[in-house]
Amino acid sequence: MARDTVSFTLNGALVAVQNPDPTLTLLNWLRTNRALTGTKEGCTEGDCGACTIVIGDPDRTPHWQALNACIAFLPTLDGKSVITVEGLAKDGQLHPVQQALIEHHGSQCGFCTPGFVMSLYAHYRNHGAVDDDTLNDILAGNLCRCTGYAPIIRAAKAMFEYPKPEEITLATAQKSEMLNLTMTDPLSGTEKHYFAPQSLDELATLYGQYPQAVILAGSTDVGLWVTKQRKVLEVLIDIGRVEGFARVEKTRDGLIIGAGASYTHAHAALAQMYPALGELIRRIGSTQIRNAGTIGGNIANGSPIGDMPPPFIALGAELILRIGDKTRRIALEDFFVAYGKQDRAPGEFVEAVFVPDPAPGQRFMVAKISKRFDQDISALCGAFAMQLDGTKVTSIRIAYGGMAGIPARATEAETALLDKDWSEVHIRTAMTALGDDFTPMSDMRASAHYRLQAAQNLLWKFWLDDKAPYLAREVRHG
Ligand SMILES: Cc1cc2nc3c(=O)[nH]c(=O)nc-3n(C[C@H](O)[C@H](O)[C@H](O)COP(=O)(O)OP(=O)(O)OC[C@H]3O[C@@H](n4cnc5c(N)ncnc54)[C@H](O)[C@@H]3O)c2cc1C
Ligand code: FES
Ligand code: FES
Repeated sequence: MARDTVSFTLNGALVAVQNPDPTLTLLNWLRTNRALTGTKEGCTEGDCGACTIVIGDPDRTPHWQALNACIAFLPTLDGKSVITVEGLAKDGQLHPVQQALIEHHGSQCGFCTPGFVMSLYAHYRNHGAVDDDTLNDILAGNLCRCTGYAPIIRAAKAMFEYPKPEEITLATAQKSEMLNLTMTDPLSGTEKHYFAPQSLDELATLYGQYPQAVILAGSTDVGLWVTKQRKVLEVLIDIGRVEGFARVEKTRDGLIIGAGASYTHAHAALAQMYPALGELIRRIGSTQIRNAGTIGGNIANGSPIGDMPPPFIALGAELILRIGDKTRRIALEDFFVAYGKQDRAPGEFVEAVFVPDPAPGQRFMVAKISKRFDQDISALCGAFAMQLDGTKVTSIRIAYGGMAGIPARATEAETALLDKDWSEVHIRTAMTALGDDFTPMSDMRASAHYRLQAAQNLLWKFWLDDKAPYLAREVRHG
């Protein structure tokens, strides 16, 4: 059985949309079909936060999450509570978040304000902390060009001081029957299909039937193919409803992260195992992007500047791939073959990634270099994992993103260090060897010269961190 009606609650009222265009964004639907124009359109690429709405989903932790409506396709909201800025005030009484913003002068032209309200509203519903670091993280995906952030932060700190209002409740997620939509695109005449399978077996069968399909995870890449590149996607398979696909599971020797797990969902477990990874994830996109984007999507998209592959490769992570009823497990570095090419057969998908536990005495560092601390893609990312026996290097894995067409290990630099004394002279040799490992390119993010020098400096920093941590602590990444 399959359904062709997408249903969810919108500001507490049940909505059913029959057979919508699978790539209609929630933002366009809200503004055009519902005249809910409080949700603004700024960039249409997940950057500015003007379109922020909140979803409530009992299957997610936390239950209330801010999302960018501009890159969320309507069918992906099936079974969730969707709350827009129009849903907050009741009987003329503003929500505490709104009241606090007014009383602390947190708005001027107002264009960004609904987005800020909704990011803060999700935080309010989750009873979040109001220290500066937390609030900076919560609001990093919302841009304001005129008020300035200080009054907004003051409002955020005060929002819990107001009387508690009556709130919209969580919807119960639809679990029954696969969602199956078909429509003809009015402009191109192309027939579009959208499937949202419920189980891994259903997903494997469908992808076997439609190997040309685009798998849709968090839509933080795919959404932009539609909104920015104007691509018409003929077949979409949404993995967001596949039972158990978002699992984050501790095993005897590591962590299994299902391909459907968002950064937000996997963050705590990864940060506990590797605190440096926790810090890296804080720097991926924004709260809205981390709520939607998946670690599986970050690997499967094959980007040379995705942030998770370098540290995972350095840590010896493995990828679990599935085609039909067969799974295989490969070293993550072997997945990336060449720019735009991965070791993945038609109909084969990423099921999970395995991240091993830290080895005894292992030193690990990952550093992202980008122009801004928040909401920016890496110019390069370097990751280093090493073990020593006394002063001898017994194991070393170094991986970089942004230095080649794929995320890759620095094997020449590793050779310069393996079985050698962990000393400045060998580090210097390894830094030089990075020039044999990589011929980086120049682009808008960084020149080839900058990339190579920054890669060398990160290796130097890894050594400094280890040898003289009091010096390295002064250096803020980014
Ligand atoms: C504003 C903004 C900021 C960003 N910041 C960062 C950043 O700081 N660092 C960073 O690394 N990235 C960043 N990104 C890129 C993006 O968010 C990440 O790469 C994200 O992890 C992609 O995951 P997704 O679930 O959204 O993938 P989707 O967009 O749903 O899919 C991405 C690709 O992977 C494929 N895919 C997804 N899941 C699977 C699977 N299980 N099996 C096979 N194929 C699959 C899809 O078909 C598609 O080709 C940013 C993006 C935006 C819009
Ligand atoms: S419109 Fe800018 S993030 Fe959505
Ligand atoms: S109030 Fe004008 S952009 Fe923020």
